[in-house]
Amino acid sequence: MNTLLNTDQIRSHFPILSTKVNGKPLVYFDNAATSQKPQVVIDALVNYYSHYNSNVHRGVHTLSQLATTAYEATRQKVQKLLNAAQLSEIIYTKGTTDAINLVAYTYGEMFVEAGDEIIISAMEHHANIVPWQMLCERKNAVLRVIPMQKNGELILEEYAKLLNEKTKMVAICHVSNTLGTINDVEHIIELAHKNNTPVLIDAAQSVPHFLVDVQALNCDFLVFSAHKLCAPTGVGVLYAQQKWLDVLPPYQGGGAMIDKVSFEQTTYLGAPQRFEPGTPNIADVIAFAAAIDYVQDIGFEHIAAQEQQLLAHATQLMQAIPEVEIIGTAHHKASVISFNVKNVHPYDVGLLLDKYGVAVRTGHHCTQPIMAFYGVAGTCRASFAFYNTTQEVDYFVESLKKVIVMLQ
Ligand code: ALA
Repeated sequence: MNTLLNTDQIRSHFPILSTKVNGKPLVYFDNAATSQKPQVVIDALVNYYSHYNSNVHRGVHTLSQLATTAYEATRQKVQKLLNAAQLSEIIYTKGTTDAINLVAYTYGEMFVEAGDEIIISAMEHHANIVPWQMLCERKNAVLRVIPMQKNGELILEEYAKLLNEKTKMVAICHVSNTLGTINDVEHIIELAHKNNTPVLIDAAQSVPHFLVDVQALNCDFLVFSAHKLCAPTGVGVLYAQQKWLDVLPPYQGGGAMIDKVSFEQTTYLGAPQRFEPGTPNIADVIAFAAAIDYVQDIGFEHIAAQEQQLLAHATQLMQAIPEVEIIGTAHHKASVISFNVKNVHPYDVGLLLDKYGVAVRTGHHCTQPIMAFYGVAGTCRASFAFYNTTQEVDYFVESLKKVIVMLQ
């Protein structure tokens, strides 16, 4: 069955996809870094700034009311997208990194003590390593790491052995941004909960690609960035179960998160306001709603099917090139292919691919421990979105072959 989307039509919604780079049509395969934005999202931004730019939660005047309504409407869309039980469980942040730092700080202050342990995995993005490391340093706690095997799958038997009465948090990526591995987070959460340990899921690379249901997962915390889901940069989401939000202290203090302030004492509002001090990123939150509508209109089942076909097609073609080594060959993968050309630095490959108009990410992808595990300085990474086509994959592979000839 051909499940491919009508990509001609979809691509016409994205102005940037008709751009030329170095005189060649842009082939944008850096979607794991950030997705492109459809015109409806750009229009939502322009419409807000042109017609109702105003601060939220602070005015009875018409524009403030319009802005507040639109800003809060996005929260409802995020709640539905994730199937969160309550609206108050959706907290806006600056992005995935900000959301993880929020949890590491607030949860860590409240629940982590000297000698306690935090479990992460060998394939985490720096954003899901460093905040926990900083917490461990502050509290004299210990960071434990679930190892992985050569194909980029976690060794879950080792994970089971790491859990103990000192484990205070398991923080794990749903999908590896570098390897594409889709982790068995259901199993990871189940084991953690049997150990009475909460779980944070870094869903930055999963929410844009397939449906993620926080109630079905039963995760305690889940974080992602809007900009990988066709929305503007500068907005992220922290989903947290209400039971945690009821007890966690504020992360940052300021306006809009308080109940009463005097010089003697301040009391705070509940979630979500408690965790959203200051004037928020109003315009980008409002445009985020347009992005959610847009991807939901396409349908996540279609998005996932399209991206899986691109992944399978590209993997097959790339495996046939003797000089290419694919890094990350897990059984369940999202549409990410990290690769190296033998004896060539990934920057050289990336720079020459750019001459053909092909955008891939090069370097360590904010996952230096993965690079150390594979003994490489970096990789090239092609990551596909639903608006990419098999023709683009073919062009990319042909360009890669020419680049290899040039570099040998
Ligand atoms: N975390 C993003 C990436 O993997 C930026 O490229």
